[in-house]
Amino acid sequence: KDVTVGIDIGGTNTKFGIVDSEGQVIYQSKLPTQRHADFKDYIKELGTAIRQGLAQTKENYNIQGIGVGAPNANYFRGTIEHAPNLVWKGIIPIVEIIQKDFNVPVIITNDANAAAMGEMIYGNAKGMRDFIMITLGTGLGSGIVSNGELIYGFEGFAAELGHVTVNPNGRHCGCGKVGCLETYVSATGIKRTVYKLLADYIEESELRGISFHDLSTKMITEAALRGDLVAKAAFEYTGKILGSKLADSVAHTNPEAIFIFGGLSLAGDLIFTPTKKYLEANLMPIYKNKVKVLPSGLQNQSAPILGASSLVVDYLNKKSSVS
Ligand code: BGC
Ligand code: NA
Ligand code: ZN
Repeated sequence: KDVTVGIDIGGTNTKFGIVDSEGQVIYQSKLPTQRHADFKDYIKELGTAIRQGLAQTKENYNIQGIGVGAPNANYFRGTIEHAPNLVWKGIIPIVEIIQKDFNVPVIITNDANAAAMGEMIYGNAKGMRDFIMITLGTGLGSGIVSNGELIYGFEGFAAELGHVTVNPNGRHCGCGKVGCLETYVSATGIKRTVYKLLADYIEESELRGISFHDLSTKMITEAALRGDLVAKAAFEYTGKILGSKLADSVAHTNPEAIFIFGGLSLAGDLIFTPTKKYLEANLMPIYKNKVKVLPSGLQNQSAPILGASSLVVDYLNKKSSVS
C-alpha cells in the first residue's frame, strides 16, 4: 500500500504521521524536538521512530515521499535557516539529509504554510482561495493563501507574521529583533504576559509561584475558565495584540477568513472574542464585518502533518503529468 509521511517540526515537539492515499492519518506519534544538540542525531531518532511506526501498522507499506513542515523552512532550497525557536543554528540542508536516509522524494515548507495547505485540502478552508492561517505554538507561524496559492515570495520566506513588530521597545525575540508579534502571541508569549501581570499586580492568582518551565497554555486556560483574573487578563491582552495586528494583514491581502490553529486556539472564546473585537476595531470600513475568524478544522488530525504529506502528493502529481 502506498503512503506518504508528514512531519511537523515544532519548537517543542516533532509530530509525524503516516498518511494513506485517501488522506487518512493511519499512524501518528511525536518526539521532543530539542533533545539532541546535533541535527544528525535528531534525524536518526526521527527516522527510527518513523520506521517503528510503519512496523506497528503491520501492513506492508511503501513510502512514496516525505513532506516536512518546519519553522524558517525554505521550500525552494530545502533548508531550515536561522530558526529562532530551534537549537540548531545556521542553515540546515534538511531535505538532503532525510533523502539520504530514506531514499525517497523529500519536500519541505514552512510549518504554518503546511497547516494552510492541510486546511485548504482537508479542513475548513476547502474551496476558499484567499485566507490566512495563524499557528500558535512555541512561536507564531503564518501561511497566506492568495488566489488559491500559497504565497512564497521572491526567496521563499513570505508570510513570517510572527516577526512583524508590535512594539519597537518591547520584548526580545529569539530572532534577534525586539517587539515581534510572537513574543506576545504564542504559547511562550502568553506565559511571558502572565509573568508580567503577576509582577505588576498583587491580584490573587492560582498561577502565582509556578515556574516558567511548568506553566502551560492549558493551565492558563483552565485558570481563566475558573475566573482567575490574571489568566483572564492575559487572554484579553493576547487577543488584543493579535486582533490589532491581523487588521494590518487584512489590509495587505483582503482574506475571506483567518484560521487559528494550535494549543492557544483551543481556549475558544477566551482568545477568539478579544481577537475578533480588536480586529474589527482596527479595520477600515471596506473590510468591516466581512472577515471570518475561525478555528482550524484539523486540530486533532493535525493540519501541519496533512499539509506536509500533501506536498508529496502534489509533487508526484506534477511529476507524472510531465513525464
Ligand atoms: C518562525 C516561523 C514559524 C513559526 C511557528 C517562528 O518563530 O520564524 O517560521 O512558522 O515560528 O513555528
Ligand atoms: Na509562513
Ligand atoms: Zn522575531
